[in-house]
Amino acid sequence: MTDSECVEFLQWCLPTLHLRWRGFRKVRRQVCKRINHRLQGLGLPNAAAYRAYLEDHPNEWATLDTLCWINISRFYRDRKVFEQLEDCVLPQLAQRVITRADSEIRCWSAGCAAGEESYTLAIIWRNCFATQFPLLRLRIVATDIDPIAIRRAERGCYRPSSAKDLPSAWRAQAFVAIAGELCLKDEYRSSVTFMLQDIRQCAPEGLFDLILCRNLVFTYFDETLQRKTMQGLSDRLAPGGALIIGNLESLPDGAWGLAPWFTRAGVYEKPVESQLH
Ligand SMILES: C[S@@+](CC[C@H](N)C(=O)[O-])C[C@H]1O[C@@H](n2cnc3c(N)ncnc32)[C@H](O)[C@@H]1O
Repeated sequence: MTDSECVEFLQWCLPTLHLRWRGFRKVRRQVCKRINHRLQGLGLPNAAAYRAYLEDHPNEWATLDTLCWINISRFYRDRKVFEQLEDCVLPQLAQRVITRADSEIRCWSAGCAAGEESYTLAIIWRNCFATQFPLLRLRIVATDIDPIAIRRAERGCYRPSSAKDLPSAWRAQAFVAIAGELCLKDEYRSSVTFMLQDIRQCAPEGLFDLILCRNLVFTYFDETLQRKTMQGLSDRLAPGGALIIGNLESLPDGAWGLAPWFTRAGVYEKPVESQLH
């Protein structure tokens, strides 16, 4: 399948999966490569044949969905977001948790890939706040639909390039080099729990003080699915909690009961007053 055939195919199939072409335009080569591989496996000559196959075999749509999981991530991705977390969001969340006489800041990394985002958060907490707030724990639940990503996350070892954006002192503190990989030390892993979950179907139990949902829902999902998922995210956010979305993403129109935390888009907070409603 050529690039233009694949583009046409994606523009045809993505709406059925409630995904949007705009999100896939730049990363389509990765998806097209997988689709071509699938065509070979099925012995099909081209996109038209695969369309016909999908029409005759409705179960194939679930396989096609898996071919559209984009798992690009890295530690400290979008440095500014993590600087805002360190400078403002985490210290304020810590104070709010202390005010409600709790000892745990609960975080959810939704669409966590191989754990780069969740472990970045664990590194920031341990290196910048653990001494300042000795009685507080940062607990992170990290979910992803891809079982291979979850296994990699649980293993906690990475190619050095995926940690290249981390401040070098943190990299040196948090990892040990083993056979050409960087493996996280246990003390940075113990606060993170990984779960295999489809965000379209479910969310982890309980309320969260911090939800990171970056480069998934608001990039790849279509408007209808974004709204449905956004409702789930907003329901899971504790009063006074923060939602962080990707740098180039925006929330779907709607009254989500959130206010921008900064003038720069991407960080939202749920006002404490919403506890009353
Ligand atoms: C592009 S990565 C983003 C990783 C990380 N949040 C970041 O910004 O670096 C998107 C992740 O979402 C996962 N994903 C895709 N569809 C999903 C779904 N329906 N439910 C949960 N995770 C999903 C993919 O497997 C992939 O690991």
